[in-house]
Amino acid sequence: MRIGVLGSGGMAEALGGRWVAAGHEVLIGGRSPERSRELASRIGAVAGSPADAVAFGDAVLLAVPAAVAVDVLGAAPGRVVIDCTNSVVPGRFVLDEPRVAARLASASGAHVVKAFNLCHVDVWRRPSLTFEGRPLGVPLCGDSASALEVVRELVRSIGCVSVDGGPLERAELLEAATAFAIGLWVGGADVRSMFPTIT
Ligand SMILES: NC(=O)c1ccc[n+]([C@@H]2O[C@H](COP(=O)([O-])OP(=O)(O)OC[C@H]3O[C@@H](n4cnc5c(N)ncnc54)[C@H](OP(=O)(O)O)[C@@H]3O)[C@@H](O)[C@H]2O)c1
Repeated sequence: MRIGVLGSGGMAEALGGRWVAAGHEVLIGGRSPERSRELASRIGAVAGSPADAVAFGDAVLLAVPAAVAVDVLGAAPGRVVIDCTNSVVPGRFVLDEPRVAARLASASGAHVVKAFNLCHVDVWRRPSLTFEGRPLGVPLCGDSASALEVVRELVRSIGCVSVDGGPLERAELLEAATAFAIGLWVGGADVRSMFPTIT
């Protein structure tokens, strides 16, 4: 697949690099041409403008701060856009930008899928995405069946399994749950202990 990436920071590098390694074509379209070129050459992608990233191919990863997400994406009618943003207020771990995915969809006209926001960037940087013998689960929320299928394939291709999170209106729950979990992690809680397997 061809994936355009808006942003040239940590998530752009971690996910973009994994997709290149999985055989996809990736275009990095950050706001700084120099940083985009530098990242692209590091991970084996190509560089372009933000507009190039939106137009590039099968999906667009939006990897910028939530506060600027709507403005950075702009109009993108019919495009498949993966929203991995989190808008967590440091220290309070509440949302300062609620319903980012839903607002992105209505402002841009894109088929937005909320995905890849739950785990810290260091998880996406790990050599393997299998933990305790199981592939990492990636929750997806979206309304477009075809967009969800594109993102499921991107999840599969990096060795993870997608978890159906329901329609885009439920993305706000994923955004809030992520903020809650980040607060627990930062506070030193064992988040995994709260979700036992019951057989
Ligand atoms: N870090 C994590 O653990 C993690 C995990 C899951 C989801 N996320 C979410 O993923 C998104 C990206 O996070 P990240 O860790 O990659 O952050 P990052 O390393 O700080 O990179 C942010 C990127 O956004 C760009 N940017 C900032 N302000 C911009 C603006 N006004 N217009 C255009 N581009 C702008 C930056 O460009 P410059 O380099 O030019 O400043 C940079 O390329 C965020 O929404 C974050 O909440 C992060």
